[in-house]
Amino acid sequence: MELDKLSFPQAIRQLAERYGIELEEEEISLEQQQARSERDSLLALNSWAQNWFSEQLHDSEEGKAFGRSYFESRGFRSETLKTFKIGYCPDSWDAMSKAAVEAGYTAERLQALGLAKNKDGRLWDFFKGRVMFPIRDLTGRPIAFGGRTLSTEKKVAKYFNSPESVLYHKGDVLFGMHLAKPAIAKEDRVLLVEGYTDVMALHQAGIEHVVSSSGTALTVNQIKLIRRYTKNITVLFDGDAAGIRASLRGIDLLLAEGLNVNVVLFPDGDDPDSYSKKVPADLLKRYIEDEAKDFVAFKLELLARGSADDPVKRTEMIHSILGSIAVIPDAIQQGIYVKLASEELALSEDVLQSEINKVIRAKLLEEQKALKREEFRKQRMGEQVPFPPPAHATPDWSDEGGKSADSFLGGAMAEEEAHRTVIERDLVRRMLRFGGRDFTLPEPPEGAAPETVAFARYVISFMESLNFEIQHSVFAKVYGVFVEHARAETVPSIEDFMKLPDPEVQSFVVGAVLDKHEVSSRWEEVHQIYSAREEDLLNKALMDSLHLLKMSDNRREIREIQEQLATLNDAIGRNDEAAVESMRKLIERRKALDEQKRNIATYFGTAILP
Ligand code: CTP
Ligand code: MN
Repeated sequence: MELDKLSFPQAIRQLAERYGIELEEEEISLEQQQARSERDSLLALNSWAQNWFSEQLHDSEEGKAFGRSYFESRGFRSETLKTFKIGYCPDSWDAMSKAAVEAGYTAERLQALGLAKNKDGRLWDFFKGRVMFPIRDLTGRPIAFGGRTLSTEKKVAKYFNSPESVLYHKGDVLFGMHLAKPAIAKEDRVLLVEGYTDVMALHQAGIEHVVSSSGTALTVNQIKLIRRYTKNITVLFDGDAAGIRASLRGIDLLLAEGLNVNVVLFPDGDDPDSYSKKVPADLLKRYIEDEAKDFVAFKLELLARGSADDPVKRTEMIHSILGSIAVIPDAIQQGIYVKLASEELALSEDVLQSEINKVIRAKLLEEQKALKREEFRKQRMGEQVPFPPPAHATPDWSDEGGKSADSFLGGAMAEEEAHRTVIERDLVRRMLRFGGRDFTLPEPPEGAAPETVAFARYVISFMESLNFEIQHSVFAKVYGVFVEHARAETVPSIEDFMKLPDPEVQSFVVGAVLDKHEVSSRWEEVHQIYSAREEDLLNKALMDSLHLLKMSDNRREIREIQEQLATLNDAIGRNDEAAVESMRKLIERRKALDEQKRNIATYFGTAILP
């Protein structure tokens, strides 16, 4: 679990796979079973192909003459080729396909994996005449291949790559990850290079914490994969300008995902592979360590290399730096970079911060618009779920005449208040009815005897630890009496409530207690059906109430935030920095509340709440 940053079940599965132990998991459907065995068949075919390609490289005359000598001429040792399980696909139309079919693999699966193409009913080898780089998953199984041509012909694509398949999603995989894992953990850093051969060359030089994507821009999933192992990344760039420009965006993506980004630029015309062949391994290591710059310094260096005196270029680069700083999610880290940039650029922190805020503001406005669109979409789709959601132990509010929720209707706010009232009444009535019952606390601490308290005090302890208030004036008075008594470790009797001079309170209390008999018999009914303990049911009903209260608070706060955001609009139009900061905080809080809302919904087993 530690090494591969896996969950417990993932770790078990991985170990079982490694040692060939069959795991009995919960029963899976026939379809799932078929999908899994199809996957297994495809994996088996790829493994076969990997071995076959390797044999061709190391043992066949053609492989040795073309493949092996090619790698030798580039300074790759044979152990390195074996570590990466490099292979060779003979330059014949269907040598591989034929061998595969002979070994019992089907034409369909060869095509599904892109190893072969079908032309006029005949298979031909997709990778013919290429050296083969297996792309492996985290456990080392080959899920795809990159095939490099040996031809120097410009018209021939340098690499062919396996198409996306059931096994292979280009954007989720990093070449070399399987081999790099232990070194990444040890160094607490990953090096990112551009090509397969760069990964191999560094590995051969003893630098093993290195991976590459497959020639495409880095994806968020690839970054998340990296972050399972380390938060520190060094990006190694070739010295050529075109590549650098394309990769600058990748840096922002890394920063936005919360990684600490360093950059190493290789001398003009060199990439990690070529450079590693020019200098001894220890110098190469030192170069990567010494040349690593944070992204601010790196962008400044690019500016210096280009046209430092051109004011337009300079402004562009400053904006590019500020844009990068703006995406950093951690405010403290962001502050550090503002300071750093202020020193490097000789511009005041205030000026920089205000520019960064402009970028952030634009982004936030975009997010807010997206939220609104989403809300609008939901409304139109009629996804509005009636509130409150069905509680498990249905609160018996229907039997109290008078204040039905309907009479509060008129505006979302009034509606919310009505719901809140219903929740509070339900809770306080339950205290009146069952408040004096001995209530055994669930889950006593290990070894301790089960503790018993009066139910009313149990309720209060929850309400207080959660900072919940009863808002409705009548119920708040009744609840207040319970709280007073709880301080003295007693439970009030009916007379204690009758002392309150409020007739509304008195009639509520009497009504609740008079219902007691009827309600208890209902509790008993439930008892028999579920043979559950009354206390469990009471506890469940309390938990429902608490979640409903939380939801009520949650909705109120979301509404308030929306109102505050609306009032900020003007100030933001006026470029008011304080307003931007407030807006940022509000949107952050709003996100936290959305998360909370989802958790409550999960509790009630409801997928979506309005
Ligand atoms: N790539 C690709 N298709 C191409 C060219 C490149 O998929 N036609 C991908 C490969 O994953 C390659 C990476 O982009 O590893 C980087 O490209 P490049 O630097 O050109 O390749 P190298 O791996 O460095 O190969 P070599 O050193 O042999 O030229
Ligand atoms: Mn290269």
